[in-house]
Order: sequence, then C-alpha cells, then structure tokens
Amino acid sequence: MFRPWEFKDLMGISLLEKDLFPGTAWTFQMLADSFHSGKFYGVVCEEDGLIVGYGGVTFGVEDAEIDNIGVREVYRGEGIGKTILGQLVKKAKEKKMNRIFLEVRVSNTPAMLLYLHHGFHGLYTRPRYYPDGEDAVVMVREFL
Ligand SMILES: CC(C)(COP(=O)(O)OP(=O)(O)OC[C@H]1O[C@@H](n2cnc3c(N)ncnc32)[C@H](O)[C@@H]1OP(=O)(O)O)[C@@H](O)C(=O)NCCC(=O)NCCS
Repeated sequence: MFRPWEFKDLMGISLLEKDLFPGTAWTFQMLADSFHSGKFYGVVCEEDGLIVGYGGVTFGVEDAEIDNIGVREVYRGEGIGKTILGQLVKKAKEKKMNRIFLEVRVSNTPAMLLYLHHGFHGLYTRPRYYPDGEDAVVMVREFL
C-alpha cells in the first residue's frame, strides 16, 4: 500500500534510512523538520504494518529536490522504487515546479537507471560530495 507519510512513520523511516545510507542518513530530527516544513511531500510503501519503502521531495519556489528514496533490500526489484518516484514526480508537477533535482552516488547503478528511466538526465558531478570521498552525479528532470 502506497500512502503519504504520517508523523508516526518517522521512526520507522529513520531506522530504514540508517540501514540504507550508513554515514549519510537523515536523522529522525532532519526527517521531522522536513515533514513539518510545509514544503515537503513523502510517500511510504507499507506491507503488514512494516515500512518497506519511502521517498520524499522538497519544494522550492520553482524547483523541487528529491531528498531520499529507499526500498528495504528484500523488497527490491518489484517496482516499489519506481512507484514511489512516480508519485513524487506527479506531486512536483501538481505543484507547478519547473524542474526536479537529485543527487546520486556515481557507483549507484540501480538508482541511476531508475532515474534515467523516469526522464532524469545527468547535469554534472560534485567531486567528493559524500563523506567517504565518492562523487555525486546531479540529475534533473525538466517539466517545461
Ligand atoms: C534504488 C532503489 C530505490 C530502487 O528500488 P526498487 O524498488 O528495487 O526499484 P524498482 O523495482 O521499482 O525498479 C525500478 C528501476 O530501477 C532500476 N533498477 C532497480 N534495481 C536495479 C538493479 N539491481 N540493477 C539495475 N537496475 C535496477 C531499473 O531501471 C528498474 O526499472 P525496470 O524494472 O523497468 O528495469 C533501491 O535499489 C534502493 O533502495 N537502493 C538503496 C538506497 C538507494 O540507493 N537509494 C537511492 C539514493 S539516490
């Protein structure tokens, strides 16, 4: 079941975030601040009360940014990531955003393919963007 984030989801999301992004995970407080910012939309995928996937997008004046997207390892390859991303993109379009940006590790082929198949393209790299020294690729999808 896919549905918008609720406050009660934040602990589960932050634990999953910690598993999926060791060293760069958003903390509970960061997630809560985004959730309450009034500029945020998040989607979770829940199965039998367990959060198995989540994603969030923050809206600026004209552009949006995908903050995070993740799927529990055993649930991958079933279309959950694709559905979450599709819902975030749909919301950004409804909010009349011009573009939607994200950053992805250069080594993260599954995520990069997911984004490429959803109309994103690479813009430039941010050298040594991550704490372990890996570069990020900045990707964008333009709605204009
Ligand atoms: C990236 C991630 C969210 C994809 O979630 P998922 O539910 O497995 O993805 P889906 O099953 O919806 O697949 C969507 C597309 O992603 C790509 N993809 C997913 N897994 C892939 C893999 N192992 N190898 C290559 N491409 C893959 C494919 O293009 C796929 O589309 P297709 O099935 O039409 O070929 C998931 O791998 C994940 O949580 N990774 C760890 C966290 C992470 O890296 N998040 C992104 C940070 S920028």
